[in-house]
Amino acid sequence: PAPQGIPHYLTHADLSAKEIYNLLASAIQHKYNVKYLNKSSGAPLAGKTLAVMFSKRSTRTRVATESSVTYLGGHPMFLGSQDIQLGVNESLLDTSKVVSSMVDGIMARVGSHSDIETLARYSTVPVINALSDKYHPTQILADLMTLHETYGPQPSSPSSYVAHQTHPSQTLPGLRVAWIGDGNNILHSMMVTFPKLGIGLNVATPKGYEPNEEIIKHAQSEAKSSQTHLMFSSDPREAIKDADVIVTDTWISMGQEEEKVQRIKDFAGFQITSQLAKEGGAKSDWKFLHCLPRKQEEVSDEVFYSPRSLVFQEAENRKWTILAVIDALMVKKSFD
Ligand code: CP
Ligand code: NVA
Repeated sequence: PAPQGIPHYLTHADLSAKEIYNLLASAIQHKYNVKYLNKSSGAPLAGKTLAVMFSKRSTRTRVATESSVTYLGGHPMFLGSQDIQLGVNESLLDTSKVVSSMVDGIMARVGSHSDIETLARYSTVPVINALSDKYHPTQILADLMTLHETYGPQPSSPSSYVAHQTHPSQTLPGLRVAWIGDGNNILHSMMVTFPKLGIGLNVATPKGYEPNEEIIKHAQSEAKSSQTHLMFSSDPREAIKDADVIVTDTWISMGQEEEKVQRIKDFAGFQITSQLAKEGGAKSDWKFLHCLPRKQEEVSDEVFYSPRSLVFQEAENRKWTILAVIDALMVKKSFD
């Protein structure tokens, strides 16, 4: 097993509310420094390498990661599934030992979540989860940052970014989010994050597409201790009731392509439209989030491209939040 004390970032189930807020506050500060002060990082990762091992496609996560490492003065070494033996021809244990002996951090996008756990177990450097079939933690940080910017203090002009002046722990608790979609990795990540932060969560998934049982239990126990609203249903309208934010994701995650026809049938009635939001009784100024990439079946164009939709701000915030995670693990070496 790996030496103790190396911080990894695999799921928010492992982090405290304070540690999650610290990452958000850091992301907000980075955005302010780079976009509005044009400040350099001082290249704290000069001479260091982050191995970016992706066994699935990626636009946002890859671009955010490579550009963040570059900003910090380090080298992002992209290793796709055709490049290295990521669980093919060589065990993950061996890959983890070998790669971690030569680099300063590993960011991996894998199929099974147990793969990222194996990488972390045998790595001598920090490991970051860039998506697994169970969790996508960096995505949820970007969602939270976007909600903080939306519900926190508003700039008086587009060029004055004021989100850094208020702590996200003051703007996020008390919001109510409705998830209308698949019981997938994005939902699981919200379930291990939102109740802990005091953010209410209503979940509607079609029958047969419910989230993981263990994660439901975990979320229920967190919701109980933080006295936060948490509800599960198979009726989108019921879940939309009183929502500030409606969120969905693709109905067909990477690796599920063969189930496409069946899934499209089973998700009938789950497309997010203005009509559905109205019928369900969302708050009148409800907002929309989606991690992207997006297909029309899960959300109509009239919602996706409307002023309610925060999706492109959310996508940009992948950059600042991933920068904060890399900074925490590879520069500060702590979530404090
Ligand atoms: N949201 C997200 O993770 O996008 P990519 O798959 O393009 O990285
Ligand atoms: N649920 C999707 C998220 C993509 C960012 C997938 O796993 O493919």
